[in-house]
Parts: sequence; structure tokens; C-alpha cells
Amino acid sequence: EKLFVFGDSYADTGNNRISNSQSWKIPYGITFPGKPSGRFSDGRVFTDFLAKSLGIRSPVAYKFRRYANNHLKYGMNFAYGGTGVFDTTAPYPNMTTQIDFFERLLNDNTFTPSDLQHSIAHVSLVGNDYSAFLARGGTNQGLQNFIPQVVSQLVVDIQRIKKLGVKKISVTALQPLGCLPRSTKENSFQRCNDTYNKAVMFHNLLLQQAITKLNNQTTQDHHGSPIVIIDLYNAFLSIFQEKGTQQGSSDFDNIMKPCCTGINQNYYCGSVDDKGNKMYTVCQDPKSYFFWDEVHPTQAGWEALTRSTTLQANLDDLQS
Ligand SMILES: *[C@@H]1O[C@H](CO)[C@@H](O)[C@H](O)[C@H]1NC(C)=O
Ligand SMILES: *[C@@H]1O[C@H](CO)[C@@H](O)[C@H](O)[C@H]1NC(C)=O
Ligand SMILES: *[C@@H]1O[C@H](CO)[C@@H](O)[C@H](O)[C@H]1NC(C)=O
Repeated sequence: EKLFVFGDSYADTGNNRISNSQSWKIPYGITFPGKPSGRFSDGRVFTDFLAKSLGIRSPVAYKFRRYANNHLKYGMNFAYGGTGVFDTTAPYPNMTTQIDFFERLLNDNTFTPSDLQHSIAHVSLVGNDYSAFLARGGTNQGLQNFIPQVVSQLVVDIQRIKKLGVKKISVTALQPLGCLPRSTKENSFQRCNDTYNKAVMFHNLLLQQAITKLNNQTTQDHHGSPIVIIDLYNAFLSIFQEKGTQQGSSDFDNIMKPCCTGINQNYYCGSVDDKGNKMYTVCQDPKSYFFWDEVHPTQAGWEALTRSTTLQANLDDLQS
């Protein structure tokens, strides 16, 4: 089985390497592999856990394909942190271009049609189109009009991946963006931003409708497997709600607060000043935090998400 991954920082395992990229700075990677590896976490990210659930190794990052040798048998990860279906503020390839890279490797026989017989593609889209839209001065009103455009482009991308011959496809529903530390720090990590979460729900509804329609078509044509939504929204909420009940995965002392954060608004996790002084604080025990930085879960966070009833059901669907 081969895994091909497209998208952003929730899935990237090393592609976004330029001089100043955050995920290549200390303390990223302190839990795994022990130094920065381009993952936006203290350790493993969703791609790693997805690969594990499929019983394969995490696929090599596209960036390192030349050093991959027989590692190519697990597929390839084309995801770049910071990207979206459209161009964002990140200087990295958008999803269209990531799929172009994949297509090129099919054309030069790096991967063959028989490789794709047993293949899964995971598409991670967790909100960079929207943060870029707001950063460019977009309003909440405008967001309502932009959301359908993002979902349409996402569906175009998914259909293209399918047409290239990939058998099974999963795609993320948006996590509750209004609950990320980036959104809650103004109120000391106490309350989610409901305005933002409502926009998220609209995106997820449109995505659900579009995928239902595609899957209905697939069933009627007897043409491959249905596309599976990886429901990060409900998985995140289940972790937030378990907090305080004795059950399951929520051994997190800190649910809303990030482990690693800049000392003030001008800095972020991993920032140093001109003299190399640390301009961030990092917690003692990342295992007791759900969020690593202002946007991304810790490895323990990802582990708990993957173990949640919601994602277990999604992953079962993907493998059936
Ligand atoms: C993706 O990036 C390419 C190359 O920069 C650009 O030509 C294309 O318009 C972008 N696609 C979308 C959907 O934004
Ligand atoms: C919630 O997020 C929106 C962006 O979608 C922003 O305009 C608004 O100011 C935020 N509200 C609060 C209370 O932070
Ligand atoms: C599936 O498609 C058929 C015909 O295209 C339609 O009649 C039916 O209502 C659809 N079902 C769903 C659940 O959308």
C-alpha cells in the first residue's frame, strides 16, 4: 500500500524548507525525532499516524525524494506547511502545483499504474486559505462568499487526484479554527471564537454535501471507493469535551493553551533575536498539552485525535 499526501502543515513532514521556516527551528521536533525535521509539532503529525494505521512507514517528503531509494514504496508526501488550494502568504506550492508534482512522477514512471492499484491519497486542508483571506483585509461577510470558492477548488483537486488513478481518498473537514490558541489568546485561552467556528461549519457543510454527491456518483458508476472525510472538527471537540471527565485520552492538563509560544505578540514558537536569545517559552512536558504552538497539536494531541471514536470510524471507512 502507498500513501500520497497533499496539503498543509497538519500533514507536512519536511517539505517547507527555506532559510526561515518555523518547523525547522528548535524546539520543533524535540519529542520526535529529537531535532527539527520540518514537522509542525514537537513530534509526529497526522501523516505519521495515518501511515501507522495503514501499517506502513510514513512516506518520504517530496523534497527528499532523491535520497529516498526503496522508501518510495510507501508513497510520497507533497504537503507544504502554510499552503491552501489557492495561493496564501506562504511561498510554497499550492495544492494544484503539488498535484502537478505528483503527475510528473507518474509520467516519468517513478510511480506506475500498478503502484496506484493499492494507493490512498490524503488531502489536508486546515484553513490557510481563510487566514490569508483575513490577513489581506477580507471581512467576515466576504468570507461567506469565499468559502464556496475554496470548497469548489478543493473538490476539483480531489477529482483530479482520483482521475490520476488513486484508489482511495481521504480529505479533512476543518478543525474548529476559532478554538486554536491563535484565536483564543486574546481571552487567555478561555473561549473559542464562535464567529470563526460558524464559518468553519459552513465550509464543512459544503464539503460534506459535495462529497456525498461525488460518492453517490461513484456508487452508481461502480467506480472505485467512496471518498472519506476525516472529521477533525468533531475529533477536536471530543477532546475538548473529554477534559474533566475521567475517560479516554484527555490526560491533558492543558487543553487550550499552547506548550510553546512567543514571549509577546512579536514573537512565536522558535523565534530568536539578533543575538540568538530565545524569544519563546516552551513547557516542560509536551505530553500534558494538546496544542504545541498557536495552531498545531502536539504529538500527544495527534495521538489522542487518532484514537478518538470519530477518527477511528473515519480510518475504518478508509480501509474498508
Ligand atoms: C497555483 O499556483 C500556480 C503557480 O504559481 C498558479 O499558476 C495557479 O494559478 C495557482 N492555482 C490556484 C488554484 O490558485
Ligand atoms: C473572531 O474571528 C473573526 C474572524 O473570523 C474576527 O473578525 C473577530 O474579531 C473575532 N472575534 C473575537 C471576539 O475575537
Ligand atoms: C444519487 O443520485 C441519483 C441520481 O443521480 C439521485 O436520484 C439520488 O437522489 C442521489 N442520492 C443522494 C443521496 O444524493
